Amino acid sequence: MSVWAQRSRIVITCAKGISSFLKEEVISLGFPVVSGDAAHIEIEGTMDDAMRLNLFIRTGHRVLFLIEEFDAKNPDELYNGVSRIRWENYFPEDGYISVTSTVDNPTIQDLRFANLKCKDGIVDRMMAKFGRRPDSGPQRDRIVVHLYWKGDLCDVYLDTSGEPLSRRGYRRIPLRAPMQETLAAAVVLATQWKGDGNFINPMCGSGTLAIEAALVALNRAPGLLRSNFGFMHLRGFDESSWKILRKKARSMTKSSLNGRIIATDINQKAVEAAKKNALTGGVEHFIQFEKCDYSETLVPEGGGIVILNPEYGERMGEIEALKETYKGIGDFFKKNCKGYTGYIFTGNFNLAKKVGLKTKRRIPFFNGPIECRLLEYELYEGSRRKGRDIANCFIG
Ligand SMILES: C[S@@+](CC[C@H](N)C(=O)[O-])C[C@H]1O[C@@H](n2cnc3c(N)ncnc32)[C@H](O)[C@@H]1O
Repeated sequence: MSVWAQRSRIVITCAKGISSFLKEEVISLGFPVVSGDAAHIEIEGTMDDAMRLNLFIRTGHRVLFLIEEFDAKNPDELYNGVSRIRWENYFPEDGYISVTSTVDNPTIQDLRFANLKCKDGIVDRMMAKFGRRPDSGPQRDRIVVHLYWKGDLCDVYLDTSGEPLSRRGYRRIPLRAPMQETLAAAVVLATQWKGDGNFINPMCGSGTLAIEAALVALNRAPGLLRSNFGFMHLRGFDESSWKILRKKARSMTKSSLNGRIIATDINQKAVEAAKKNALTGGVEHFIQFEKCDYSETLVPEGGGIVILNPEYGERMGEIEALKETYKGIGDFFKKNCKGYTGYIFTGNFNLAKKVGLKTKRRIPFFNGPIECRLLEYELYEGSRRKGRDIANCFIG
């Protein structure tokens, strides 16, 4: 049976800690969520559904489509189970495959060995059927098979994304410590900015937050930026239905914003890189870039979001200097950002205390292995009494 006619489990993975945003996105696309944890969610669906998810979701990394489940206690049983799968139904014998895996089985010390056994099972079956076999290697730009082997249970998936969805394709010039695109999208969603009011991003680095904010506000599907996905290399892929889906996504895109997006950085190279990335992402007309110190960033009347992702500091000398920066951000919020909601994304909670303002929310995130917080500050226009407290108030 063609994979396009099957209904199966679809697992959507994401960076640790952002699955609640992914879940909301998936529900809003009309899929009931079956289960999940901090780094994935599960739904039921078809390959057409997988195609839609690849096009529309902002916070997911990979859309995995289950094709087989079997028991395997050791590498030989894995090989046997994999070679029983009808790979010939899924992709051509002259293609190119890559195997990725998540393995927790006592007989496997090195993931590469599990990948090799899985790859051997696939290519040996193709060889036996056709007298030729697909090439294989690490490139993920064509067929990607994902093996999830936990204990004795093996789940074999087609990775319908191919390259992870975090690689939107617009960040041609990454700088030091860029935020992953999918994490930046989750951070923007956490601010609840939808394009009303302004989005001000001092310390923009390579521009990821500002670019993702523009994509969110324009309701532009991030998958429109990519021309290659794993599902395109499967047998039975219907280019015309993909084109129809893309056309629909384009028709849902807004052509203007109500507010302004301003992105600044003290480093000229960062500003240039951010501009080029925005150009590649097709949103350069919607973002105003400036080279300046964060404290000199233009914050227009009208309110909105002001968000900074300062460095967290690794060495003592850096941390000392950053204490002043974090304190300065607090002053900048107080003096220049009245009527806005302020955000700081950081992995250094001690430095965050230097901001000197009361947080309204502290939203947990992970940036790779580093535990981070998105700190939210309500920057009131006038005084606002809460019991005896005057929280972050400016009277003037
Ligand atoms: C952690 S990076 C931001 C990364 C960004 N979120 C991205 O995705 O690329 C911090 C940025 O702050 C900038 N920066 C440091 N000190 C600054 C200052 N005083 N004023 C403005 N920008 C500053 C650095 O040049 C760097 O690009």
